[in-house]
Amino acid sequence: MNRREFIAGLGAFFASQLILPKVLAGVVLPKDLRPLRLGFLTDCHAMAEHDAPGALARTADLMNSLKPDLIIGGGDFVHGGFYDPGKTIDRRWLIADRFLRSLRQRMEPLIGNHDFYEPLQRDGTPSPHDPRWRWRRYFGLERTYRSFSFRGYRFLMLDSVKVVGGASPYRGWIDAAQLLWLDRELATIPVDQPIILCTHIPFRTSVMENFGSMMGPAPGRVRVLNSHAVLEKLKNRPLALILQGHVHTNERLDLAGIPCITGGAVCGKWWRGPNGTTAPGFGLIEIHPAASSGPSNSSVGGVGWSYLETPASVS
Ligand SMILES: [Fe+2]
Repeated sequence: MNRREFIAGLGAFFASQLILPKVLAGVVLPKDLRPLRLGFLTDCHAMAEHDAPGALARTADLMNSLKPDLIIGGGDFVHGGFYDPGKTIDRRWLIADRFLRSLRQRMEPLIGNHDFYEPLQRDGTPSPHDPRWRWRRYFGLERTYRSFSFRGYRFLMLDSVKVVGGASPYRGWIDAAQLLWLDRELATIPVDQPIILCTHIPFRTSVMENFGSMMGPAPGRVRVLNSHAVLEKLKNRPLALILQGHVHTNERLDLAGIPCITGGAVCGKWWRGPNGTTAPGFGLIEIHPAASSGPSNSSVGGVGWSYLETPASVS
């Protein structure tokens, strides 16, 4: 199979849903690439209020029934990290823990802004303490960014949150340490290995466009302001997909030819129903790099994407 055939397969299968990754065209893909079913679970915002624990349980049941190969946890596992006291956040991690333990498949987490632990001082300036420690300890991870291989794909898991303090206390940003790490990491990643980039704060979203230029949140609240620095490093790589969360909006976009999927939130509008047109739920993504192989070893493939709404309570 080669990358041109992969692209042709993508087009035949889901042209109306995903804009094809131009960077894949004309490059040979690894032979060991296998089909992949991903669950994309983002923005859970665990809390005790609004029947959130019950809805999380129903979300887990639905996810388990779909048997994904891997779940990407898109960040914001708990609610309120930037504003609520640590004791409140600790109780919410217990609720998140009950939910995450009930998932039967491997789950790889991103960090979201709500997962930060007391990141601000009383005067609104950034705390001198590490606000990421709670997330790192819960998941047993040394760093909030990393990469791993799964079924022939390389997942880049980024930390997209920078604490700046003030009225708009964080911004979407990939810090210098991470950019240096990415250089080192890419030096070890085979040049033909397809990459799936995962980020809590979007690299691109239409949310700002809905507000217009004079209204709405500061741009850094809804997208990574220096995403170009990452994309520049990946420009000669087969970047197959960008998965992103944070804005609680279910959308598909294209960023310089790369498909971006923004997942709707597990909590919808922070447990108060749908957020705009996006109901509480999660994404299911199926990647089929090689649907058939004959004597010529020709293959077709595709990327399918669905958004599944969490079942309503029956009580
Ligand atoms: Fe969120």
